This record gives sequence, structure tokens and C-alpha cells, in this order.
Amino acid sequence: MKALVLAGGSGTRLRPITHTSAKQLVPVANKPVLFYGLEAIAAAGVREVGIVVGDTSDEITEAVGDGSKFGLDVSYIPQPKPLGLAHAVLVARDYLGEDDFVMYLGDNFVVGGIDGPIRDFRAARPDAHLLLTHVSDPRSFGVAELDATGRVRSLEEKPAHPRSDLALVGVYLFTPAIHEAVRAVKPSWRGELEITDAVQWLIDVGHDVRSTQITGYWKDTGNVADMLEVNRLVLEETEARHEGLVDQHSTLIGRVRIEEGAEVRNSRVVGPAVIGANAVVAGSYVGPFTSIAEDCLVEDSEVEFSIVLRGASISGVRRIEASLIGRHVRVTSAPPVPHAHRLVLGDHSKAQISS
Ligand code: DAU
Repeated sequence: MKALVLAGGSGTRLRPITHTSAKQLVPVANKPVLFYGLEAIAAAGVREVGIVVGDTSDEITEAVGDGSKFGLDVSYIPQPKPLGLAHAVLVARDYLGEDDFVMYLGDNFVVGGIDGPIRDFRAARPDAHLLLTHVSDPRSFGVAELDATGRVRSLEEKPAHPRSDLALVGVYLFTPAIHEAVRAVKPSWRGELEITDAVQWLIDVGHDVRSTQITGYWKDTGNVADMLEVNRLVLEETEARHEGLVDQHSTLIGRVRIEEGAEVRNSRVVGPAVIGANAVVAGSYVGPFTSIAEDCLVEDSEVEFSIVLRGASISGVRRIEASLIGRHVRVTSAPPVPHAHRLVLGDHSKAQISS
């Protein structure tokens, strides 16, 4: 069995939290989301991985290399244009040969890995095995409708009127039957060759298509609350590790990971939290569920339940909470402004003014 990881698509810097042009490299707890996918593939015992790359090929190649750091043997498959997920399978035809494969969308995060679904697929070997999850707004996903026995009856890509709340998670298992299907489909209303349509084609011609429902799934939809939540989930699993310097005036409480070259001086860090390589935390409080990325500076400040991306600095700022701070951002305290209150208060009124 091989893996086909999709890390193409056109680069975009428009989304609020895509700090890099490759959305697969958005960090979760200081690690690119794509790396969790590669680790899950390795943990499931798959070694040969083809990564489909597009405009952002250089960034992806630089981050992943030959895959040996994940215990994988990675090949890169250029996709000239992002013409759809089924198109990515078309361009990978030679690489995939006659092997079964797991297709993994590089910007997806599946809590708990994919060993279970891969085991199910290997045991029953249907032509396609899909992962599904309940979502509150299915309109931005592929949506599956199941019959009474739990078999997949129909699939629709980003429907305006979804027939269920079961979204397709970006992990699919296929036998080589999918190759005929991706050749058979036509571009959708959004001009892409949809894998959803290819799987529907398999259903229509009578192939066996099964599914597993999972909980614990995330993809970057540009929603900061979701990103903080996935960061929290991953930090929940973090082990304490101290590879940097912590001076005697500092206190670390709970599971705190201090990466190599980081310095914590005269500060209090309450885990779960991670302080990235070469970051400096001085005279500050870092609270639970916070990821401070590499090369950041946090001084005379308080940060909690937040994500601070590479090279950012926060200086002299009291409590920052539930925030996402982008790469190389500088946050400083504003100079104090003299202020006065002008009030017109009626008889017997009560006013509370914080000063
Ligand atoms: O994330 C789950 C959803 O992924 C599914 O529910 C949908 O059914 C499926 O179509 C897909 O929808 P998206 O519109 O979210 O896919 P997106 O264009 O974001 O692409 C997903 C990944 O595949 C992303 O890492 C970029 C990569 N990609 C995408 C296209 C269109 C490629 O490598 N090549 C492509 O041509």
C-alpha cells in the first residue's frame, strides 16, 4: 500500500491564519499540519509516499525533504495546475501503479491517526473507503448520504442544501478501481475534477464503497477559534521536555515543552504549553494551551490560550488571551494617554468606572 498526500493547490496569503503560502504548513502546536499527516501515515505502517505539489513545491520540499525524518520514502509528483483532487490522482497514475493507496489531504488533521480505518480497509478491501464526520455546517465539504444499512448512497460536493451533516474528511482509501473513475468524471461547477464525483461514479457502476465515522477532525477554514481548539487538543497530549535554559527565578508548572535554544528567565509558565526553539520568555507569564513558536520574544507580558507564530515579539503587554499572533508581528504597549471622563449622570444613577 502507498500513500498519496495532496499538498498542491495554489498558494494564498489571504486567509487570516495562513501565515505561509502553503496552507499545509500552518503550524499546530509549533508543527506544520502536514507533518501530523505524514506521522499518521508512518504510524499506520505505510512507507512509500507520493506528495502532489503545485505552486508551493519549494516550500513543501524544503520542509519534508526525502521523508527520512518521518521514516518515509517520499517522492514528489508535480501537478501543473490545481485542477481538482481527482486530477491529482490522474497525475499520480504512474507513481501509484497497481497498488492500493490512502489519499490524504495535506491540510487536514485527524485526531487519533488513521491506523483504524487502514486496518478496516485492508480487512474488507472495498473499492473505496471514506472517512466521515458530523459537522455543524456541511456546505463547505463533500457531503455523504448513507442508506439504512450505513452504506454510502450518494455524495455531493459543497451542496447548497446538504442531505446530511456527514462531511467527507480528507482521507480516502482506494483500490486501483479509482483510476477508471477519475478518468470518467467531468469538471464540476467549480471547474475541478472532484474526487467526490469519482467515488459517486464507483457507487453508480456498482462498486463497494464503505465508510467509517470519526470524531476529532480539523481543517483550517480560516476560523481562529477552531485553530485554538486544535492547538489545545494537541497540547493536551504534550509531554514535558526541557531542552532550553530555565533560570532559577522561573517556575514551570505542568507539562511544558521548552525546545532547544529557548530561554525562560524570571517567568512563570503553566502547561500544557510549548516554547519554541530559540524563543525568549522573560519577566512574563505564559498560561495553559499556548504555543510560542521558534525565535519569538515574550517580555514583561502575559499570554494565555494563544498561538504565537515564528519570530513574533510581545513586549510590555498585560493579558493576551485567545489570540493568534502571526509571523514576525510586533505587539507593544501603547504609551499611556492621559484621559478624563465626561459624565452626564441623572439623579440617583450608579456608575462604575475602571481606572
Ligand atoms: O477537507 C475535506 C474536504 O476536502 C472534503 O470534504 C471535500 O469533499 C474535498 O473536495 C476537499 O475540499 P476542499 O475544497 O476543502 O479541498 P481543497 O481545494 O482545499 O484541497 C484539499 C487539499 O488538496 C489541499 O491540501 C490542497 C490539495 N490540492 C487541491 C487541489 C484542488 C491539490 O494538491 N491539488 C488540487 O488540484
